[in-house]
Amino acid sequence: MERLVKDRIKKSRIPARLDLAQSGTGLVLGLFMWVHMLLVGSILLGKGSFNFVAKTMELSFLSDTGHGYPSAVFFAVLGVFSLFIIHAALGVRKFPISWKQHTIIRSQMGMMNHSDTNLWYWQVVTGFFMFFLGSVHLFVMLTHPGQIDPYLSADRVFSSTMWPLYLVLLFCVEVHGTIGLYRLCMKWGWFAGTDPAKSREKLKMVKNRATIFFLSIGVLALLVFFIIGWGHSDRVGEPYNTGHTAVEDSVAPGADPVDAGTEEATEVEASEETGEELEEATEVEAAEEIAEEAVEAAEVEASEETAEESVEAADDETAEETAVETTEAPSAPSDIHVEVEANDHTTSNKE
Ligand code: HEM
Repeated sequence: MERLVKDRIKKSRIPARLDLAQSGTGLVLGLFMWVHMLLVGSILLGKGSFNFVAKTMELSFLSDTGHGYPSAVFFAVLGVFSLFIIHAALGVRKFPISWKQHTIIRSQMGMMNHSDTNLWYWQVVTGFFMFFLGSVHLFVMLTHPGQIDPYLSADRVFSSTMWPLYLVLLFCVEVHGTIGLYRLCMKWGWFAGTDPAKSREKLKMVKNRATIFFLSIGVLALLVFFIIGWGHSDRVGEPYNTGHTAVEDSVAPGADPVDAGTEEATEVEASEETGEELEEATEVEAAEEIAEEAVEAAEVEASEETAEESVEAADDETAEETAVETTEAPSAPSDIHVEVEANDHTTSNKE
């Protein structure tokens, strides 16, 4: 009975077919990742370029109004996510699942120091990480298919703190993807040419350069998303539109170095900035006017006070003078009366 089972396994073609499926899904995902990184890297050409790419991915060119169809992205993510899960399920067959298996592989690697074997081990490690990190990213994309634009992506990277996940995932997927494509060439004899050893060296060089190229684009793009997200952190969730708001460059020093390309955006920016400056200027002017008025009022008040004081002082003075005068000539209080009376007479005679 045992022999029968062993024979059936030995003769079964399923493992080979699973290998083929793994290679097939790996090839599609690997090439997808190169395209994906170039599309995400469009942020390096400016927000307008990334927005154009995002809208094109939403098939906006099919609609009259130019708005996109997030459902198109939803189905694309669903397709990639399914491939991702199938590829992971096929890949897990090769994982060293016990400590014993792991120790054996590590010791053989140490003994052979064979570069391709070492590369395979790194594929296993990066694949393991992508089980978790890739799934998070894909689930977010699946549930937010219409939320891909320069600001919403930047908000995810900065304000939703996705950047650490993206950074680790970036290294994992670029290392895993390029090693995977290189190993596919080795496994299926692609680009072998007449001298396999030579073409192996060449392919290895292409692999290393592709890894460095896509990692650099990924890290730079992540940095730009981070800076945009930082500048946009007071308006999280505000989507990008072609006439975007003006304050973004004034928020973070050196924010958004890639925006220079979009002339239209800078014109709108400039006019809104002058608008704001004008507003500020009028406010300052108004404040100055008020201040001036206050000063004037204070001055008037002060002068009135001084006038009053001087009147009072004058009054006091005359009062003092009369007091002096009365004290000086105490015996003829009637004189004043006579004088007043005399004055009255003369005025009445005159009249
Ligand atoms: C159709 C499926 C996918 C779509 C629509 C998609 C979309 C995106 C978008 C829009 C970004 C920019 C950041 C953001 O908006 O949050 C991004 C970044 C990223 N994606 Fe994907 N993605 C997909 C599949 C994958 C897969 C399968 C992986 C790897 C397992 C992956 C790895 C990454 C990495 C590492 C970044 C950061 C890029 C950078 O360094 O700037 N993506 N993706």
